[in-house]
Amino acid sequence: MKHKLLIFLFYFVNLFCTSNTTNIPSSTTKNIKTVEIQTETYDRLVYFSKMCAIANCISYNQLKENKTLAEGGCPQHLKFCSDINANKAIHDISIETVILAKSHELGTGYIAIDHMRQVIALVFRGSSTRWDWFHDLRLNPSKYKPFSLDIYDEKVKKGEISECVDCKLHAGFSKFLDTLHGKFMDELDNIFQKHSDYKLVVVGHSLGAAVAVLAGIEFKLRGFEPMIITYAQPKMFNSGMIEWINELFESENLDYINKEKGFLNFTSGYYRIVHKNDFITGLPAYFRHAGLQINIKKIMLPHLIDDIEYNGLVLANEENNQVEFQTWERLYKDWLHLYEHRHYFVQVNECDYI
Ligand SMILES: *[C@@H]1O[C@H](CO)[C@@H](O)[C@H](O)[C@H]1NC(C)=O
Ligand SMILES: *[C@@H]1O[C@H](CO)[C@@H](O)[C@H](O)[C@H]1NC(C)=O
Repeated sequence: MKHKLLIFLFYFVNLFCTSNTTNIPSSTTKNIKTVEIQTETYDRLVYFSKMCAIANCISYNQLKENKTLAEGGCPQHLKFCSDINANKAIHDISIETVILAKSHELGTGYIAIDHMRQVIALVFRGSSTRWDWFHDLRLNPSKYKPFSLDIYDEKVKKGEISECVDCKLHAGFSKFLDTLHGKFMDELDNIFQKHSDYKLVVVGHSLGAAVAVLAGIEFKLRGFEPMIITYAQPKMFNSGMIEWINELFESENLDYINKEKGFLNFTSGYYRIVHKNDFITGLPAYFRHAGLQINIKKIMLPHLIDDIEYNGLVLANEENNQVEFQTWERLYKDWLHLYEHRHYFVQVNECDYI
């Protein structure tokens, strides 16, 4: 009950702060050339959403290290883990490492190698206790300090990257950087020594999405070329930090290329998937989004290829436009639109539904 009250109060506060910027349909503010979602892109979006879903199996101690999915790396009652018709890579995906954050800290997840796709996936779990992270949605921005500070400083000095000027992020999420283990970096270093031609993809849903972006930045600083894919990510950066991240992941250039070609080059960069009416992706209103946005237009499952649209770089005044704030009655009934928050191609907040 206390949680619900907190959520409600929090939401109430945010409602006032977002009311000026909502209801600006992007189609009337900018004439975007249609970018086709190809089957290959769609399949990857679904695949990584399922990879996020099995991160929740960690809560039940059901992800096993050093095993392929078919060998029991993940629960055999899930089709994704045992049925070759549902997942043709069950023998090719192995769970390498399960990462357990300290209790109530962010950063629980796993590393898997997918030999079929030649991908190393680093996947972060959303939240173990369902709503505890709302306590962490403290609104005061804190100054950004990369975990790999020495490397960052050196790269700035050499002119390889820009300095992150006036960079601030959500205080609750910046906590993750304090708990990020060097061990975890070493682990990835080891894996890459064996599979140097594989692609690193960092993914997460909800709170895990926030962690995925921060981890992705660290790997980028350390010379990996990670692709970041997030689902249901809350807002977390100020404008200074957004500029820096978009430069680091070449968002503007990729957006240009995607629009020129008319389809997505879905192999690098930072992509952020939002589901229509998922309110969490519009909160907290004080912060903003970086990366390239992909929108799921349909609320209920199934989410098919035609339900997906590319938005690309989203300008500040266009953010949140998928959220329609309506009457108090509706607001109360639907809370934070949890269905929308939990469904991205599959139900992604639990271990049991794929
Ligand atoms: C998996 O393999 C690694 C490296 O050989 C080892 O350190 C780790 O303990 C193993 N994990 C389990 C659960 O056996
Ligand atoms: C996609 O982008 C990558 C990296 O920027 C590039 O190497 C590759 O050639 C691009 N692929 C296509 C089909 O444009």
